Amino acid sequence: MLELFSLKGKNAIVIGGAGGIGQAIAQGLAAAGATVGIASRSVESLQRAVQEIKEACQLDVRYYTVDAANEESIAALVKASVLDMGKVDILVNAQGFNKKFNAEEFPADVFRQMFDVNVTGVMLCCKHFGKHMIKNGYGKIVNVSSVRGRIATRHPGNAGYCGTKGALDMITRQLASEFGKYNVTVNAIGPTVTETPMMTEILNSRGPDARKEMAEQLPMKRMALPSDCVGPAVFLCSDASGFVTGNIIYPDGGLTAIG
Ligand SMILES: NC(=O)c1ccc[n+]([C@@H]2O[C@H](COP(=O)([O-])OP(=O)(O)OC[C@H]3O[C@@H](n4cnc5c(N)ncnc54)[C@H](OP(=O)(O)O)[C@@H]3O)[C@@H](O)[C@H]2O)c1
Repeated sequence: MLELFSLKGKNAIVIGGAGGIGQAIAQGLAAAGATVGIASRSVESLQRAVQEIKEACQLDVRYYTVDAANEESIAALVKASVLDMGKVDILVNAQGFNKKFNAEEFPADVFRQMFDVNVTGVMLCCKHFGKHMIKNGYGKIVNVSSVRGRIATRHPGNAGYCGTKGALDMITRQLASEFGKYNVTVNAIGPTVTETPMMTEILNSRGPDARKEMAEQLPMKRMALPSDCVGPAVFLCSDASGFVTGNIIYPDGGLTAIG
């Protein structure tokens, strides 16, 4: 039975794999048996993540640098990882960018930058890795979206971020529709606010009780952890989800159930 969830013999690339959620997912995929490569822009962060994963579970992951908002850089990542690993079976898009401005003040360049990373960049990663997976007749793509792709927030400043995640949810569904016949599944994970480097400054700016208040709003009455994304990611990357495509799983402590 557990074999259904095993990733032995599978090769995975986790973009944003040195970030809070991406690193937890990369470690989870490696623990489930996959050969894992993490990718993002900062070599220092990648090396730190490789070291931390090694210390946490004695597993080696490899790393690649990529600017996932740049198509040439994404194409180079596909080439390098395929050369290195032989094939890529799994792609997790865990990269992201989140800047908050009230809607009436939102700078156009920041809005565009957010779409470049969270939407266009993810689409281009799916395009280039998807092409490789279609050729192989097998692939699992998991996009890290957010509850903000589905429900708005009472906190101002989120028009850009919510917009990108709503777009990503629809791209996920449409790619599922286009890639399904090639045995390539495309799904998403939609976490709620999770304590990661992306959120620390934002949470701190909301005052000393921000975390407690946030936890209080969730049916499960605690803040989300990066590790809450690991189970959904392993499921969506494994054969246990063989006939699941175009879906979004919400590790959100019940927020979208009541939101
Ligand atoms: N934390 C939350 O509350 C939360 C909730 C829901 C959804 N999410 C989503 O979860 C994903 C991961 O977020 P996180 O909280 O783990 O954030 P994080 O800790 O800030 O990690 C983000 C990662 O994305 C990488 N990245 C950013 N721009 C990139 C680019 N152009 N090319 C390649 N890599 C890039 C960063 O690495 P470099 O800067 O080194 O490139 C970093 O590794 C994002 O999509 C985010 O929107 C987060």
